Amino acid sequence: MKNTELSQIALTQDATGAIANPIYLSTAYQHPHLGTSTGFDYTRTKNPTRSAFEESFAKLERGTASFATASGMAAIQLICNLFKAGDEILVSFDLYGGTFRLFDFYEQQYGVHFKYVDFLNYETVKESITENTKALFIETISNPQMQEVDVDPYYILSKKHHLLTIIDNTFLTPYLSTPLEDGADIVLHSATKYIGGHNDVLAGVVTVKDANLAEKLGEFHNMIGATLSPFDSYLLQRGLKTLHLRMDRSEYNAQLLAKRCYNLKGIDQVLYCGRTGMMSLRLNKNYKADKFLENLKVCIFAESLGGTETFITFPYTQTHVDMPDEEKEKRGIDEHLLRLSIGVEDYEDIEQDIIQALEKSKESVII
Ligand SMILES: Cc1ncc(COP(=O)(O)O)c(C=O)c1O
Repeated sequence: MKNTELSQIALTQDATGAIANPIYLSTAYQHPHLGTSTGFDYTRTKNPTRSAFEESFAKLERGTASFATASGMAAIQLICNLFKAGDEILVSFDLYGGTFRLFDFYEQQYGVHFKYVDFLNYETVKESITENTKALFIETISNPQMQEVDVDPYYILSKKHHLLTIIDNTFLTPYLSTPLEDGADIVLHSATKYIGGHNDVLAGVVTVKDANLAEKLGEFHNMIGATLSPFDSYLLQRGLKTLHLRMDRSEYNAQLLAKRCYNLKGIDQVLYCGRTGMMSLRLNKNYKADKFLENLKVCIFAESLGGTETFITFPYTQTHVDMPDEEKEKRGIDEHLLRLSIGVEDYEDIEQDIIQALEKSKESVII
């Protein structure tokens, strides 16, 4: 995607020529006559500020319709409504903990089955498909292992078995990847992350190409009501204008840091797929994660990602807290694993901060 195209799409189409998107706070819209409408009736159903963002985003994702929701989890929950008891969905094994928790709830409460599979292993996924399988749910870059799945073969497999392919594109964004163009049916984001980009808006977005899917999701969006507020929609639209700049910078910083961390004493494993700003580090057993986190000065110990600041998260007790210990163990989520979302700061500042925090986190050897 070209940078200029991205900025242009994010510009408002307002007739006044306003460069920034107007925020329409009105929840209700006056009808000129009985049976007529301006196209806007009630804000849960449609709001001009939200529509402006949704239209821009659908273009970026190469889709036809986007639905902005009150959080990334609300976006996933919106999609869950496409399935009924007995349906089975094959899901990325190495997945965001909150999505795992929601799917577990849907399994217990509504009888939708979620089977965790390793999308890095095509043959196992293929063999896992049964007559009840209705969809594949893939996080293209696994979390927190940061392995990138080659999704193309799954688009072909899905078509053959009439499955929906659902992609969580949060870590890549439409700047780096447009799955609808490649063959996906539904793309979702926690827009709280790179799309908003400044850690000041909680939001989600679902995008599709197919008209039937758009109609169904549009009905659910209005019916369930977890639609995005006008102000938050404005913030997302504003975020789009700098998405390319922020992605370029955090990817650049992450690539440099990954290289540096391979040679750092105290780090046993660097998990980075080479794209985007997300990586994980496994500390050596002689280094303490709690000491490392409390000694950070530039990077921030906080639980989110995709913002301008570098965030370091401790998946074991944060993002994956509700995952049973044996499941965490299978995924390599232990007390030495840290997840980093690299920000847009000066690279040197990030590197120096990590080095100094590592030095302070080494356990003193008693002789
Ligand atoms: C990959 C991924 N998907 C979905 C979500 C849920 O998004 P939200 O926190 O905006 O509800 C998250 C949150 O961290 C995430 O990392």
